[in-house]
Amino acid sequence: MTTAVTRDAAIGSDLDHEEVIVRRGARSRLPIILAVHSTARGPAIGGCRLWRYTQWRDGLADALRLSAGMTAKAALAGLHFGGGKTVVALPAQLRPPLEPALRRAVLLDVAEAIEALDGRYFTGPDVGTTVADMTTIGEASSRVFCRPRHLGGSGDSSPHTAAGVLACLRVLGELLFDGAGLRNRRITVIGLGHVGELVARHLADAGADLAVTDIEPGRREIATELAARWLDPATALTTDTDVLVPAALGGQLTERVVSRLRCAAIAGPANNQLAHPGIAEQLHTRGIVWAPDYLVSAGGIVHATAVEIDHDSPARAERRVQDLAATLTEVLTIARRNHTSPEHAARGLVEARTGQDGRRRCADHHAP
Ligand code: PHE
Repeated sequence: MTTAVTRDAAIGSDLDHEEVIVRRGARSRLPIILAVHSTARGPAIGGCRLWRYTQWRDGLADALRLSAGMTAKAALAGLHFGGGKTVVALPAQLRPPLEPALRRAVLLDVAEAIEALDGRYFTGPDVGTTVADMTTIGEASSRVFCRPRHLGGSGDSSPHTAAGVLACLRVLGELLFDGAGLRNRRITVIGLGHVGELVARHLADAGADLAVTDIEPGRREIATELAARWLDPATALTTDTDVLVPAALGGQLTERVVSRLRCAAIAGPANNQLAHPGIAEQLHTRGIVWAPDYLVSAGGIVHATAVEIDHDSPARAERRVQDLAATLTEVLTIARRNHTSPEHAARGLVEARTGQDGRRRCADHHAP
């Protein structure tokens, strides 16, 4: 007698992802991981991360988490895209940026893997990759966002991600400080990478009382230029501040860190800030407002898809980035009304949009 696999049994599986490719690049021999979390709302979208990991399996874990975050990000921003991510898991002995021939080889390997997914996944820049890298991927795949403008792409996504972060910080500024905004507020930016540096510059312009840090000591020059305080990266997270802006790698908000935080709110562009999902409740219990990272960091994909898919004018694309502020206001309003964490409120919106069942596959979506 055979037993039919019931739908419930399939739902009960702890594999959340639709599809994951793990392969050793034919040209580079490096581990390449493409995770497609969901195509329920459209093809998966998510950047290509080039980063060092102790083992490739750590890169796999990162790709799984990051791609799930992209599903939430795209859905909450109202995009007809799902979530995916590429991780090139560099072994500890290889230092980015890699020598040019190897970098090219690995990017072409990534392009080949994207093509194997036949339109179910589109990539873009992420930690460790640039607009120039998107051009290289574009030589072998059209499923890539943020190529340079002269090649028909929307260019660097960082300024738009930073604009979205600032829009969200302004919402928090109004809400927490009785409409007084960001001027003279103590704001701490953790990480001065592509996006973090731009956010810090905007905040300096807005008159914030700024403190910054980065694991790279050379970035201290930015602090000097912006007349910001430079903090020790080891203790910056727990500094006494009004708003914390995580703009480095994810996973930094652990139970231990959260128990020591001295801030009123957290909103930043780093993906997957929480070490595990339960941290959102811990923050809520401590009375710290955590603006979900998958909302705060969505400016890049909102802008890229507005320009490259919807062919929006620059002004309209920019307005859509600013709309993230309205979404954050909605999330915070629901949370306040229901006495839940903002994460719980945001998750509810994401689930309503991605649907528990009746997933719309991406076959009916037109590629750019
Ligand atoms: N790195 C950006 C993010 O995490 C990803 C991005 C992907 C931006 C595709 C534009 C296009 O949101």
